[in-house]
Amino acid sequence: MTGSGNGNQARNRAMDHQRDNPPDDAGGQDPTPASDAGAPKVASRQQRTYASWRLVRRRQVRQQWQEEFPYHWSADDLVTRRDTVRFLVSGTGALFLASAALAITGAIRSSTTQKVVPIAKVGEVPFGGYKVFNYPDSFADGILVNLPNKGLVAYSDVCTHLSCAVLYRPTEGEFFCPCHEGRFDASTGEVLGGPPTRPLPQIQLSISGDTVYAVREVER
Ligand code: FES
Repeated sequence: MTGSGNGNQARNRAMDHQRDNPPDDAGGQDPTPASDAGAPKVASRQQRTYASWRLVRRRQVRQQWQEEFPYHWSADDLVTRRDTVRFLVSGTGALFLASAALAITGAIRSSTTQKVVPIAKVGEVPFGGYKVFNYPDSFADGILVNLPNKGLVAYSDVCTHLSCAVLYRPTEGEFFCPCHEGRFDASTGEVLGGPPTRPLPQIQLSISGDTVYAVREVER
């Protein structure tokens, strides 16, 4: 065998070794020196790439979470209290507006009960007697009473407690509500007993010729 043949064989062996052992990032040098054999292993390129990707991903998730809920745990209690106060304030405001709307509606409604309606003939209701009539329309009733010491008076028959119809009791000189035993004075409509707190609405009367008219209902 010639010197040139030995050179070729050596070159082929070197190429085989290079194919079976590809160079790493350190330019083909082993990153772990032989003297550090007992030291922890250095991460491979794949491990480092995966670690970097996980770090970036974790930052992205945290950033997204902070955008959706930009409060730290320590501020969580504060946020809850603030939301509760906000809810209470808005609820109170809504209740206030609803009450104001009801008050305005009630005021408008009371002014619309002014209506002239014939309800009886003069002398039709005897002393101590009464007559139920529709006022201001067929959906509501009033009671016309001829009191021995006062003459004709009229009231809405709707109890001011929970809207039951009251009954006239001539012997007692009062209106009686059978639902919860509310009682009203027949000559004034004022409360005499039971749960009602407001008097019966009064219906003002007018006489023209031989006819008695209901003119207006007065809330009290
Ligand atoms: S509804 Fe008349 S007393 Fe209650």
